[in-house]
Order: sequence, then structure tokens, then C-alpha cells
Amino acid sequence: TWTMAGFIETEIASIKEKVGTGKVICALSGGVDSSVVAVLIHKAIGDQLHCIFVNNGLLRKGEAEKVVNLFTKHFKINLDYVDASARFLEKLAGVSDPEKKRKIIGNEFIYLFEEEAVKLGQVDYLAQGTLYPDVIESVSTKGPSAVIKSHHNVGGLPERMNLKLLEPVRELFKDEVRLLGKELGMPDEVVHRQPFPGPGLAIRCIGELTAEKLEILREADAIVLEEIRKAGLYREIWQSFAVLLPVRTVGVMGDARTYDFTVALRAVNSLDGMTADWVKLPYELLGTISSRIINEVKGVNRVVYDISQKPPATIEWE
Ligand code: XMP
Repeated sequence: TWTMAGFIETEIASIKEKVGTGKVICALSGGVDSSVVAVLIHKAIGDQLHCIFVNNGLLRKGEAEKVVNLFTKHFKINLDYVDASARFLEKLAGVSDPEKKRKIIGNEFIYLFEEEAVKLGQVDYLAQGTLYPDVIESVSTKGPSAVIKSHHNVGGLPERMNLKLLEPVRELFKDEVRLLGKELGMPDEVVHRQPFPGPGLAIRCIGELTAEKLEILREADAIVLEEIRKAGLYREIWQSFAVLLPVRTVGVMGDARTYDFTVALRAVNSLDGMTADWVKLPYELLGTISSRIINEVKGVNRVVYDISQKPPATIEWE
């Protein structure tokens, strides 16, 4: 019979044999798949694994610190941390088209990743958190999800650097990867993380990005997640987040008029991201989130709730 412990044992042996004395690099995103893959490979080959984590400045509040801490302090995995926040913001300045944003972020990531990888000298394998559905998808259709996943791969890097691919979870489904992570001793916070898009907050800050807008969104988003967690709903919701709209509306605070931004809340349930329904969050919770955002986040005076299904709406606003 198939067991997770058995899978781990077999995979470790297979990774060891394949890699030998070679070197492996892995791009960490903070998401479940790449994190689990890194921990699994580390268990097999220890310091022969080098992880690279690029902070694009589009992450959620406290996320970069969490990733760095977990991998370096807890798992003692070699990790090159690249803080490229300023650089991404510079490249994205003045860009409002969603697909242009994605392209810029994807290209910049590949560029930085390669720059770091080259510093490591001879590298033999590139580890990737490819899952079974990704494998099927890439050979069958080239629908929107193929585009969606495009940022995940590192362009022509494997060819340019002559790297072989190491994809130890390519036969697993998402829920199995979570079980694997659990079995490997990874914290629930990582194992049960809601999906987060590669372009991150950039596609949740509608229109042109600025450091100020990103900061507003980051704070609002942190409140959404904190309250969703407090209500015990985090794990049963597919994705829940804030979106910053490029709309200013009139409000009143004390006896002064305000003219500030609007935050939209989005919470959806879905099985695979292809279709989704909005979550009927309790009014009380919506009220708490709204008051907290308006009271605590400077620059926001209005909060709305997105009650659109996918299709025809999408989960993200961009
Ligand atoms: P949409 O907005 O198309 O999103 O309904 C479906 C799922 O995909 C995620 N998403 C992305 N993930 N890069 C990613 O890695 C992207 O550019 C991207 N766009 C959307 C979205 O968060 C949802 O889970």
C-alpha cells in the first residue's frame, strides 16, 4: 500500500541517486509547492541544495521575513535572499496594464534568479514544484491557466545554464503535497496557505502602482487575513484578500471631509481556481473588517464586498 512515509523514503533515495555529488538550485516563492520541494530535497542532499528567494516587494505583510526565518533558522537550508523590492517598483512605475505588469514581474524574476544562480558556479539541477495537474495541463490545453502559470517557470534558464529538472512532486496532487509537507514537519501556516499569485499585490493594486498604494493594500490585506483567521475560516476559504481600487470617494471623518481610496474585499471558494463562488461571509465579520480597515489604514474611507462569481468574473481583479 502507498503511504506518505513510503513516498518520502523512495523519493529521498531517488533524489540522492540522481543528484550524486551535484548541486541543486530551487526558487522559493513562499508557497506550498516550492517550500515542500525544498524541504524534501534538503532531507535528501542537505547542503547540496541552494534556494533562492527573490523579494519582489509585492508580498504580503511580514511574508519575506517568515520565509527567510523558516528556511534558514528552522530548516537550516542554504538560502540566498535577494531583496529587489525597489527594483521591481521602478520597473513597474507608470504601468497599468495587467498583462504588462505580469510580463515585467516575470522577466525581472528570471533575470534576478539567473544572476544569483550564476554566482553559485556549477549547478546541475533546477528543482521545481511541478504538480500532477500542471503536467497534464501543459500537455493538453493551452488555456488561460497555461498563461497563469507562465511566471512559475524560469524561462529558458534550464537550457541556458544546462540544468536538468528535478520535480519530485510531479505525481502528486495539491492535497497530497500538503500531507507531504505535514509529514516533513512543516508548519500549518505554510502547508495550508491559500494560493497567492506570483505577481502578488501588483495585480491587486488596480492600475498604476506606487509605494504608497502598495503599503495601503498591504495593511488592508493583513487585516482581512487576520480577521478571517480569527473567525476560524482561513482554511475553508480558497482565497481571501483585499484589492485596492484606483477610485477615490468622498467620506467624512470627525467633522472633516475626506477624499480617499476604496478597498474591495474578495473571498472565494473554489476547487481548482477555474470556477469560483463568492463566500457568504457573516455580516458581522464583514463589518469588523470594514471598520478596522477604515479606522486603521490611512488613505482608505470605503470598503466594498465583491459578490461576483467566476465565470464571468475572475478571482483576481486584474
Ligand atoms: P483568476 O483571477 O484568473 O485566477 O480567476 C485563478 C487563480 O490563479 C491565480 N492567478 C495567478 N497565479 N500568476 C499566478 O501565479 C498569475 O499571474 C495569476 N493570475 C491569477 C489566482 O490567484 C487564482 O488562484
